[in-house]
Amino acid sequence: MNSRVSVIGAGNVGASLAQMIVQSGISDCVLFDIMEGVPQGKALDLSEACPLWSSASSIKGTSSYEDTAESDVVIITAGFPRKPGMSRDDLLTANAEVVSTVAQNAAKYSPDAVFIVVTNPMDVMTQVAFVKSGFKHEKVIGMGAILDSARFRTFVAWELGVSCQDVEALVLGGHGDLMVPMPRFTTVKGVSITELLSADRIDALVQRTRQGGAEIVVLLKTGSAYYAPAASAFEMVKCILLDEKRMLPCAAYLNGQYGVNGYYAGVPVVLGRSGVEKIIELKFNEQEIADFDKSIKSVQELVQKLGI
Ligand code: NAI
Ligand code: 2OP
Repeated sequence: MNSRVSVIGAGNVGASLAQMIVQSGISDCVLFDIMEGVPQGKALDLSEACPLWSSASSIKGTSSYEDTAESDVVIITAGFPRKPGMSRDDLLTANAEVVSTVAQNAAKYSPDAVFIVVTNPMDVMTQVAFVKSGFKHEKVIGMGAILDSARFRTFVAWELGVSCQDVEALVLGGHGDLMVPMPRFTTVKGVSITELLSADRIDALVQRTRQGGAEIVVLLKTGSAYYAPAASAFEMVKCILLDEKRMLPCAAYLNGQYGVNGYYAGVPVVLGRSGVEKIIELKFNEQEIADFDKSIKSVQELVQKLGI
């Protein structure tokens, strides 16, 4: 039997992700949205592209949760994106309601799935999905740090005039303005960028990474980024379905690791078929500890504001 991946929210991120899933042929896909006609129309369009992609995947558009039943992976992209002048945190209350409804319904029909949460403010929405699904925390994971790390990789590659394929980067903490790019753990073919770039240039790239989402919002004016976010979520989907056990930065539930108890934040994890299989604990220096703690504090404040 083919794997089944349900994408909840058929907007910019959700539809782009659905395209990557069916174009790759890795799984069948269900595209869900409450906007009657939209998931059905996009799914039909994608179905008609499958012969051209030589893809055997099937895709169904729906506004009924029953159609998502027995999914292996459910990705939650439903909710509101930010507009110019808004931070991710401005979306808190409205998106918490959406994610609560989605998590409860999706969990009911796919009790064995792994959930990936994309909706912002992502770390907090992942906590909402964890609480509302009733799932084990290892099976509810947030996507943010892969995207932030991909942005950092891009900017480092441009700065040094090297292929982005040779750049590895780590951005940890919450997926917000206080995210923590980690220059010490960012390398070009194994060489840390602290050996290759001046402190001033690294600071400039760190700032651009922190503002990476906002930079695109300002350009688009009507919404936020979606190609790189969808590609980041797809990397997680692939890793889970194929049990790749890659080390990827994801929002995972911290149970004492990094001195944090009971909150989600971006940390390096080993990702496989059962979700987060291991959290990798890095040894931070004093500055990294201070930056990470500040980022976590902002996630904690939002979780407390929601009262979950
Ligand atoms: P979008 O507005 O294009 O799509 C959102 C979709 O959610 C719409 O089609 C809407 O009808 C649907 N929706 C709303 N309420 C729903 C419900 N109760 N059930 C099912 N569907 C519902 O937005 P876009 O650009 O796709 O972004 C989606 C979310 O992802 C936003 O919150 C955005 O901030 C976030 N995001 C997070 C990223 C990350 O790195 N974690 C990166 C990019 C976006
Ligand atoms: C981004 O970083 C809006 O979180 C989204 O592009």
